Amino acid sequence: MKYDVAVIGSGPGGYVAAIRCAQLGFKTAIIEKYNTLGGTCLNVGCIPSKALLDSSEHYHNAAHTFTQHGIDIKGLKVNLDQMIKRKNEVVDQTCSGIDFLMKKNKIDVFTGMGSFVDKNTVKITKNDGSTEEIKTDKTIIATGSKPILLPFIEFDKKRVITSTEALNLKEVPKHMVVIGGGVIGLELGSVYARMGTKITVIEFLDGLIPTMDKTLGKELQKSLKKLGFEFHFQTKVTSVKVKGKTVSVEAENKKGEKLEFSPDYCLVSIGRKAYTDGLGLENVGIKTDDRGRVEVDEHLKTNVDGIYAIGDVVKGAMLAHKAEEEGTFVAEHLAGQKPHINYNLIPGVVYTWPEVAGVGFTEEQLKEKGIKYKAGSFPMKALGRARASMDTEGLIKVLADAETDEILGVHMIGARAADMIAEAVVAMEYRASAEDISRMSHAHPTYTEAIKEACLAATENRPIHM
Ligand code: FAD
Ligand code: NAI
Repeated sequence: MKYDVAVIGSGPGGYVAAIRCAQLGFKTAIIEKYNTLGGTCLNVGCIPSKALLDSSEHYHNAAHTFTQHGIDIKGLKVNLDQMIKRKNEVVDQTCSGIDFLMKKNKIDVFTGMGSFVDKNTVKITKNDGSTEEIKTDKTIIATGSKPILLPFIEFDKKRVITSTEALNLKEVPKHMVVIGGGVIGLELGSVYARMGTKITVIEFLDGLIPTMDKTLGKELQKSLKKLGFEFHFQTKVTSVKVKGKTVSVEAENKKGEKLEFSPDYCLVSIGRKAYTDGLGLENVGIKTDDRGRVEVDEHLKTNVDGIYAIGDVVKGAMLAHKAEEEGTFVAEHLAGQKPHINYNLIPGVVYTWPEVAGVGFTEEQLKEKGIKYKAGSFPMKALGRARASMDTEGLIKVLADAETDEILGVHMIGARAADMIAEAVVAMEYRASAEDISRMSHAHPTYTEAIKEACLAATENRPIHM
């Protein structure tokens, strides 16, 4: 069989690339080694983690805030089996949605491991060991990423786990040590902390979610501390060993003091790395960088003509929506269009509660670049909407150019920040000034009023409700 485009990997990068290619009239194939489509995001990433975050948040509210709302419940308890079952149903529905989209767009799906034979031939090795080959004019590599593991960690997938296992536990842990205070550690740590697990975070650097604006990490730390999280910053894990039903975790802090923990589970969440195993990159001479990522140019083309790469397997943020944009970009580029991605305006979101979101430059980046800026903040607790819902934690910070007033960064922590950040993205794509946004009507009472107020604070330091 001969295709115009073959896509290897069916995550948000791959399946979106395939759909856009088919929409543009290319005869398209997609190759996925797992039995379900959707990649990390749909199967063991974004979707299942959010399903468990929502369920655990409901439980936590029922246990801690319902009484104040005037709702009394007796005999409240967690049914983890049901929680995981519902999560699996959400995943199944979402993955079958991708099957439907492949059929609708007449994309041929091949199940098996894809590897390059040559520039125009991809071999597919199925689970039973049988193989078949397809011919293709162009290929898009969208093989994603996998968790980074420390070499000295005894990783048994039962007690010492990654996010994949943490999404399928059979019991609520009593104590979980989380190595890495990044997105996965804090989201999945929150899931279990809300159900009563003691969470101890060991983080190498001096704060949480270190790639985001520092204000957000500090605020999030306060909220998670209330949830029972314990933090050890500037601390290095030195040994992780399974001892029956417990794990022995040893670490050393910056003063050189030794720390020892005996949790029943240890989650390793220290980042992810590009996944290219078995892809046969060497058969076509595709170059990778020092972190194993496929090297691409500004058109996401590898060093081999006709072969492109997108998503987690290339440089940049490891985010589903970044992978999707790149999938669309390559398809349109192949069709002779002139697509564009503004990498500075890809929002980052952490789905803890309160939620955390940011877009554009952080305050630290502006200082480092020597760009003169004005900052305006507004606390959620000053919002009527936040008091009505009892979600008063957090703030919104707007950074604007000192001379032109153009918004350069928006950073928020609070209820529904994950959805609200879209307003900042739209404003910044259209290069709005802080004054532009502060003069637009924001429905009352909503959390978005905090964006308007933070813009008022940034542009002329004149918030209304402060
Ligand atoms: P992937 O989704 O990793 O898909 C790659 C696919 O390629 C996989 O299905 C793999 O089996 C397949 N594959 C690999 N090699 C081959 C081969 N040789 N042949 C055939 N198939 C192959 N991002 C967000 O934006 N928001 C979130 O809320 C979010 N939550 C996350 C939660 C967790 C727990 C994790 C782990 C990640 C989360 N992410 C989130 C990150 C997000 O999942 C990734 O950025 C995204 O999935 C990357 O998409 P991709 O298409 O590049 O790769
Ligand atoms: P991460 O990069 O977000 O965080 C890893 C953390 O571990 C960092 O704070 C880092 O300083 C720390 N660290 C690294 N080595 C360490 C060590 N040896 N000891 C202690 N701490 C160490 O990585 P994470 O949480 O594993 O997630 C991987 C990626 O998946 C994220 O970067 C993100 O791109 C994606 N993701 C996105 C989500 C979202 O968008 N909401 C949710 C979950 C994952």
